[in-house]
Amino acid sequence: MHNILKTYKWFGAVLLAGAFVLGGAVLVVPAQGQGINIKIPKLSPVAIKGQIAFNRTCAKCHGLNATGSDKGPPLIHDIYNPGHHGDIAFYRAVKSGSPQHHWRFGNMPPQTSVTEEDVARIIRFIRETQEANGIFYRQHKM
Ligand code: HEC
Repeated sequence: MHNILKTYKWFGAVLLAGAFVLGGAVLVVPAQGQGINIKIPKLSPVAIKGQIAFNRTCAKCHGLNATGSDKGPPLIHDIYNPGHHGDIAFYRAVKSGSPQHHWRFGNMPPQTSVTEEDVARIIRFIRETQEANGIFYRQHKM
């Protein structure tokens, strides 16, 4: 039994080393992570600007169009409905970051390159897309 365990450990180490080598080789491919399937509605002009700003800065963690990646959660998600995470949560997260609390991706660092005007546009993009995917205001109960 002991020997079998040892063999497994060794095998695991080889697998891990292999994964690192492979990981290095595919780093050029954008992380797909856990991107969820969503519908993108016909966006308002402001939301289109928000989508561009979002995909420029936030998508590297939150995934393309806020569908999530292996570095951050999807924002087109019921947790982020306006009753649980109002618009103020977006301004605050961008300005000061957000400590890990809902997920296990680690902390979100402040996004100092993003202006408040861009945050307002990003919020329009998120809200319009949330609504198109059946995510509406729900009062938050603890
Ligand atoms: C370096 C990765 C990273 C980047 C870049 C990033 N985020 Fe985040 N963000 C996270 C993680 C991880 C969480 C989840 C924290 C938790 O709840 O565990 C999060 C959470 C949030 C939240 C929820 C905050 C709360 O009150 O719970 C909002 C809103 C948000 N991000 C918006 C944005 C926007 C907008 C951008 C781009 C301007 C952005 N994020 C860029 C990683 C990132």
